[in-house]
Amino acid sequence: MLTHEKVVSFLKQNPALSLSVLEKEAQLPSSTLSKSLTGDRQLNSKHLAGLYPILVKYGFNEFTNPRAKIISVVNHKGGVGKTTTTLNLGKALSKLGYRVLLIDMDSQGNLSQSLGHDNPEKQVVQSLLKGEQLPICHIAENYDLAPSDLELAYADLELVQAVGGVNQLKNAIAPIRGQYDYIFIDCPPALNIFTNSALVASTGCLVTLQPEASALKGVNNLFDRITQVRDRINYELAIEGIVLTMVDSRLKVHRDMIDYIKGSLSNFKIFSTIIRQNVAIKESQIAQQDIFEYAAESNGAQDYFKLATELSSY
Ligand SMILES: Nc1ncnc2c1ncn2[C@@H]1O[C@H](COP(=O)(O)OP(=O)(O)OP(=O)(O)O)[C@@H](O)[C@H]1O
Ligand SMILES: [Mg+2]
Repeated sequence: MLTHEKVVSFLKQNPALSLSVLEKEAQLPSSTLSKSLTGDRQLNSKHLAGLYPILVKYGFNEFTNPRAKIISVVNHKGGVGKTTTTLNLGKALSKLGYRVLLIDMDSQGNLSQSLGHDNPEKQVVQSLLKGEQLPICHIAENYDLAPSDLELAYADLELVQAVGGVNQLKNAIAPIRGQYDYIFIDCPPALNIFTNSALVASTGCLVTLQPEASALKGVNNLFDRITQVRDRINYELAIEGIVLTMVDSRLKVHRDMIDYIKGSLSNFKIFSTIIRQNVAIKESQIAQQDIFEYAAESNGAQDYFKLATELSSY
């Protein structure tokens, strides 16, 4: 199904297309598309119906998207909202009509457990070590998971020693990339072979950060590592931005810390959407549900929906 977001994403990926020609061919009022790109207009079902055959003519294909964004969710610090962000940002994007795959690259398996896959028989590790196809579990519409558990931890050394081991995740993603619009990789709280593999396989990374002094410690090492991977192995790797998580803006210490982060990390994009502290998020993970299923009206659901809209709008 063609959606407003898919049209905007296609046009941004194909800047050489003339908007006025497309408008004429699809019989849309002039400036409809330029206003959609700037966020001043939402395409309605009549616009979308007119546009569909025209975009197909210019290369749009609902079912293959070789330019799917592959985004690692990283921070070597533990408990800063990586898994929560992977799970709920992914779900929000799937609700916006994007096809989303989540890949669990953490041997803690928190992402897989949160989606009800506790002891997956087929898991990511088999793709990394044996070159098998990535195991895909269908969770909901437009929302798939490649699960992991503790078994992944034992692959550490073998993967480090294997020729091109760090490229194995990238190789495993390549054949299925076209089936998705967004692939998120949930990374472990360490700068190890699994995080490296994720960065090598990605087009971008998203750093979750809690506005606490301890969370900022070593953050420069993280950005150094990302830059090294980009400069040496994966020239495509972009820093999508920093997402502030578990924020309680009633706390002065959080407000001060956010100002400090904006000042000291001003070279990087910091998403304007802030994820507030919200007990429903914690509860939803225990209930093995995403936040939209568990509490659709909660602050957590609102924040992750807003983040998805922000991420997909550029
Ligand atoms: N916005 C939030 N409000 C309240 N609790 C949250 C929020 N975000 C995450 N949590 C809770 O904080 C804990 C840590 O979050 P999460 O597991 O996403 O972090 P992580 O960075 O993936 O941790 P690890 O490094 O161990 O993988 C979880 O119990 C989660 O439910
Ligand atoms: Mg995690």
